[in-house]
Amino acid sequence: MDTQKLKQLKGRSLLTWLDFTSEEIRLFLDFSKQVKAEKNEKKQRFKGQTLAMLFEKRSTRTRCAFETAFGEEGGHPVFLSTDDIQLGAKESIEDTARVLGRMFNAIQFRGFKQSTVKTLADYSGAPVYNGLTDLFHPTQALADVLTLEENFGDCQGKKLVFIGDGRNNVARSLLVICSKLGVNFSIIAPPALSPDAELLTLCNLIAKEHGADVRVSADLDEVAGADAVYTDVWVSMGEEAKKAERVSLLSPYQVNQSLMDKTARKDTIFLHCLPAVKGEEVTAEVIDGTQSRAWDQAENRKWTIKAIMLATLAE
Ligand code: CP
Ligand code: NVA
Repeated sequence: MDTQKLKQLKGRSLLTWLDFTSEEIRLFLDFSKQVKAEKNEKKQRFKGQTLAMLFEKRSTRTRCAFETAFGEEGGHPVFLSTDDIQLGAKESIEDTARVLGRMFNAIQFRGFKQSTVKTLADYSGAPVYNGLTDLFHPTQALADVLTLEENFGDCQGKKLVFIGDGRNNVARSLLVICSKLGVNFSIIAPPALSPDAELLTLCNLIAKEHGADVRVSADLDEVAGADAVYTDVWVSMGEEAKKAERVSLLSPYQVNQSLMDKTARKDTIFLHCLPAVKGEEVTAEVIDGTQSRAWDQAENRKWTIKAIMLATLAE
């Protein structure tokens, strides 16, 4: 671990992996492995520090990962839902950011607009972490790649297939991180749920620079040879009104055992960011079965989030 290089990450916000080089993402990833390996060592690396945790949307993993990772290192996390603070209601996001920046060492934001997390970073003067917006879920993507590497070693050249709503925050974040790290990344989705063309074109170029391919297809046979098959809910938070439309579009794209068998590999792993709707995007047989690594992946949220905060924040 090059601790000198790690120091260059001090003070940075994580809004999307588009803002980081491949080398920087690799540093976060390798540091996450170190943080996980040292998980039983009691350290107090956030002693005397404070973290504002802003939530417009619900969360289990992200909230618990940030809160436990920060608290067990001696820091003081403060949970603030939109029922608790003025954010965007009685006070502008700019003004909220200015005030939080005076009181907290760092800010986590989960909510709707990517522009909100950007404004918090621009006006607070503190590192800001994107804990999920409609567009990106970058801390999730780091845990996903860590889980891939725990199973197969260096992720470069491996094949990860995302199947489902290809335009959602999780698929888009995987698209970015995979292209930067040289992972061959395929999205299997109906045409109506393909990722947006602009991001796709950009990530295609980035992937090529790193010797990898980005592919989008509606054909289930695209899973052939996959190291990992990944899915997410058909209806993301904030899109509840689209439920019927999504079920009709995505029912042929359920991850079940026959889909897993199409990889023609016994060692293909199954990934899911969770929470899962068993019986919709994935069957219980697959997510609770031997190929699933969804629970390791959930645990890895904590170590990657701790590593991100340690690299950007701790003294
Ligand atoms: N994967 C994830 O972000 O889970 P939560 O919504 O529970 O935080
Ligand atoms: N795409 C999902 C991810 C949840 C972690 C959502 O935004 O609801």
